[in-house]
Amino acid sequence: MSELLNKVQPEFLQLTRKVRDRRLVYLDSAATTLKPRAVIDAVTESLAWGAANVHRGAHLLSDEATEKFEAVRAHVARFIGAKQSSEIVFTKGTTEGLNLLASSLGEILIEPGDEILVSQMEHHSNIVPWQMMAKQKGAKVLFVRVTDQGEIDHEHFKSLLSPRTKIVSLVHLSNSLGTVNPLAELFKQARQVGAICVVDAAQSISFMPIDVATLGCHFLVFSGHKIFAPTGVGVLYGELELLNKMPPYQGGGSMIERVSESGTTFLDAPHRFEAGTPPIAEVMGLGASLRFVESIGLEAIASHERTLQVYAAECLRKLGDIEIYGQSADQGPILSFLINGSHPSDVGALLDQQGVAVRAGHHCCQPLMARFGVVGTVRASFSIYSSDEDVDQFVEALRKAKGMLQ
Ligand code: ALA
Repeated sequence: MSELLNKVQPEFLQLTRKVRDRRLVYLDSAATTLKPRAVIDAVTESLAWGAANVHRGAHLLSDEATEKFEAVRAHVARFIGAKQSSEIVFTKGTTEGLNLLASSLGEILIEPGDEILVSQMEHHSNIVPWQMMAKQKGAKVLFVRVTDQGEIDHEHFKSLLSPRTKIVSLVHLSNSLGTVNPLAELFKQARQVGAICVVDAAQSISFMPIDVATLGCHFLVFSGHKIFAPTGVGVLYGELELLNKMPPYQGGGSMIERVSESGTTFLDAPHRFEAGTPPIAEVMGLGASLRFVESIGLEAIASHERTLQVYAAECLRKLGDIEIYGQSADQGPILSFLINGSHPSDVGALLDQQGVAVRAGHHCCQPLMARFGVVGTVRASFSIYSSDEDVDQFVEALRKAKGMLQ
């Protein structure tokens, strides 16, 4: 086993679990990553010894919790290259971040006849909130076509841009195809027509270094649970000037400047978007997950995961009678495929019987499945703790499944 895996695997207790009396092969990290010991310890410590509310207390425990909470915000800002920690809003996750944007940005930016551009490879969370807002506002959501290789069709993208394009919201790394989109290049063109650029970084955040300035985006969202942190915490990055122009998404405690019977004024970002008690222990977990990732290095992570994806794709091609979806020049740690003539759910179930956890179905990307004319795919996704041995066991299980289905 490589030095990297020797260091990393013992941190993930769940890898020692047996599933259906077999060694667990966890190839569903795109759905959620396993959690390292350091993250579990940080959450436990917060709950066991640091339980106090933030931004409210007149006592030491609350001050301590607030300091640690705000330190994580500053860490997230450094992690993605934001200029300041006020540009980091804690959310429940990617979905909430995108709903917040659709609602709040929609309110100040969108007029009847305006257009919001997404691609055919977006997750439903980067489609539905925009459609809901567009319906209310009399605006339109346009879909950029995806090529047979699973890449954004650049010519089509260019042809859809116009002064009516107010928002361009694109996935960085497709959860269904593994495509890494060249967002910096696409956003450069989008900015020329004055569009606001949004990144769905749910999958890329744990795979590659991210710098919001290099990407040229105005907003970026991700979920903690896809980068080894707990569920229930996520991040919305936004340029401060824009955030402060946007109305709050939810009202409540902690986000107000003054409340009276005649009305309310609001705090500046990020607090105006963080009504109510935030997910404090989960934020501590997120802080630990970023330290964990930095202790390995995102370049090393990307190289490990890419190597596994290439190896697994080669093995599948050798098996034959398998269609791979997503063959872009720049691929992430995701391998989406179908055994010819088989339903993805049957393949998923047969793999599960052999201790191999994958996702099967439409992956919350129905427009993409429609584009490829399939009901869904089987998706194997790799993370820092995945190994050649996992791939070999997966391929062997797939060979057996194929024999049973064909
Ligand atoms: N968005 C997650 C996935 O792709 C849940 O599986």
